[in-house]
Amino acid sequence: MASRKMLVTGAAGFIGSAFVRSVMRALPDVEVIAFDKLTYAGNLENLASVAHDPRYHFVQGDICDAEAVRASMRGCAWVVNFAAETHVDRSIVDPGAFVRTDVIGAYELLEAARSLGVERFVQISTDEVYGNAESPSGESRPSLETDALKPLSPYAASKAGADRLAFSYWATYGVPVVVTRCSNNYGPYQYPEKQLPLFITNALAERAIPVYGNGQNTRDWIHTDDHCSALVAILQAPEDKVVGEVFNIGASEERSIIENARAILGLVGEPESLITFVNDRLGHVRRHAVDSAKLQRTLGWQPTVKFDDGLRETVAWYRDNPEWLAHVLARRDEFLGAALALGSQGK
Ligand SMILES: NC(=O)c1ccc[n+]([C@@H]2O[C@H](COP(=O)([O-])OP(=O)(O)OC[C@H]3O[C@@H](n4cnc5c(N)ncnc54)[C@H](O)[C@@H]3O)[C@@H](O)[C@H]2O)c1
Repeated sequence: MASRKMLVTGAAGFIGSAFVRSVMRALPDVEVIAFDKLTYAGNLENLASVAHDPRYHFVQGDICDAEAVRASMRGCAWVVNFAAETHVDRSIVDPGAFVRTDVIGAYELLEAARSLGVERFVQISTDEVYGNAESPSGESRPSLETDALKPLSPYAASKAGADRLAFSYWATYGVPVVVTRCSNNYGPYQYPEKQLPLFITNALAERAIPVYGNGQNTRDWIHTDDHCSALVAILQAPEDKVVGEVFNIGASEERSIIENARAILGLVGEPESLITFVNDRLGHVRRHAVDSAKLQRTLGWQPTVKFDDGLRETVAWYRDNPEWLAHVLARRDEFLGAALALGSQGK
């Protein structure tokens, strides 16, 4: 019998859907309100495996819509806000959409949580808020929760706004907020505009792999299963250990773009001659990496998926799920079409 209701926004996206699938597996007493606007990035096929579970309810709605948000949050003990515009390259073209959803949408959720009263509100922020991973003196090292926020893209800046707004709702009104800043996620069901699924999709189709600049920019990679286990640990932790806190989440698996391109071509069995260098992204962050010692120390959480294993499984998933990919491509998203042909890889 379900006893605890939770609102998961952005539930039809890449990480939100992984979270819904994993939380329904891990916590049998939880009932999930999966809330999503179903933008180009939302996909109900990502939730097909839980759609018939009586503990699952889907609501199509916009987090900027105060009434819809309140109606869905009523009676919920937990809120996890994944809903966002998430692609750095799109934020360079259309920053307004990011300010609206990532900042105003977070505000509407926080306002509803303040008036309705919830037990925990997890704001899914990102390591992008730090800008380049470095110490205050400019030495390159993984970001700490205490580092200054120096976001470089409109996406990162919008997320930083929501991150601090959520914190202020704890500091000012006592809303039980926890902010998480996770590194780059990978795994099944990721929309193929982002770096790894874009490379995998193109490699499987024997198309060129577009690599930004000299390919040396690095990111810190974590499998969605590990991100989700960290979030479950945060939701279940005693209030005094996590509320009002910021936690980095990462698996200390740094790779450059060119290393990823080579690894994927190796796994797919295609030649490195498919690698094509393209003009660098504007404001491209050299290095994102997080130090997650605080989370490990506080809750004993540890990542379990090694990047090489996770990448092999992810490549196999895209190879074994051509229908999922075909349905995504059939939507004829112009931005995605351009990215897959040549020229973009992201988060
Ligand atoms: N992907 C990563 O590597 C990564 C890393 C750290 C943090 N994050 C954060 O995690 C969250 C999820 O990222 P993702 O990669 O799954 O993104 P995604 O783009 O795959 O999914 C975003 C989801 O939000 C929904 N959405 C967008 N605007 C909405 C609105 N106004 N109202 C309701 N729903 C809306 C979309 O339909 C989609 O289902 C985001 O907040 C992102 O900033 C992502």
